[in-house]
Amino acid sequence: MKLIRTTSAMADWSRRLHREGVTIGFVPTMGALHEGHRALIRAARLACDAVVVSIFVNPTQFGPTEDLAKYPRQLRLDRALCAKEGVDAIFAPTAGAMYQPGFQTIVSVPTLARLWEGEARPHHFQGVATVVAKLLSLVQPDISWFGQKDFQQAALVRQLAKDLNLPGTLRVHPTVRERDGLALSSRNVYLSAQQREAAPVLYRALQAGAAAIRGGERRGAFIQRLMAHVVKTERSVTPEYLAVCDPSTLEPLQTIQRHAVLLGAVGLGTVRLLDNMPVTIRPKS
Ligand code: PAF
Repeated sequence: MKLIRTTSAMADWSRRLHREGVTIGFVPTMGALHEGHRALIRAARLACDAVVVSIFVNPTQFGPTEDLAKYPRQLRLDRALCAKEGVDAIFAPTAGAMYQPGFQTIVSVPTLARLWEGEARPHHFQGVATVVAKLLSLVQPDISWFGQKDFQQAALVRQLAKDLNLPGTLRVHPTVRERDGLALSSRNVYLSAQQREAAPVLYRALQAGAAAIRGGERRGAFIQRLMAHVVKTERSVTPEYLAVCDPSTLEPLQTIQRHAVLLGAVGLGTVRLLDNMPVTIRPKS
């Protein structure tokens, strides 16, 4: 397995593989790899001849008061996981290699970045869009994989790739969960034992919302209140947003027609947890 540290070596490697007719699958990550990443890598392994995983804690997507400095970094463990999964190359550039002195181009996807995580984390999605545009340009993948856990990010990256004609197709892989429903995230390591116990309440809230929709409820505001009510059963958990949205625009839905996504973010002390649940109403036959 190759460890690539510079942008030019990354671009050269991809060019060489493409010349040889090899298809490239790409899994962009910030490292601290877990079972959710493993699922993306396995999907890439199945679909493409060669797999590249990028490991880059992208400074431009963190706000000034966020966890950039303490974000888990464990390249040795990540390399071992990748080697075990048959990854062909890890692209782990330094921040200096990705953002050279004088760097000034910022990519923004303003409408999809407006609500939810965009409100809670100003500039976060500009950082994500900019780095994803750079990564896709460097890696030139045939297919890249993103996790559904970050639903808004996946929607925004889809729009970005379409608008800028970025290379390859994009696949979104279903969220991988712990047995009690907690969505896997590199940030779950921040949870204390007590917080970890309370954390699955977000998943239960989304499940309650989805069950109400399947039971015939169509009013967005009602489902939103129901989810908030479930979250409040855990007193240590603060609801940030619990929303019923159109899955393409991410705008709140007053009335659900056919497709919706339930989006949620909660706080546990200083830790924020995100999750979501897409729901489709099947027409009665
Ligand atoms: O989801 C992530 O890990 C990051 O936001 C991504 C897509 C790798 C960009 O830094």
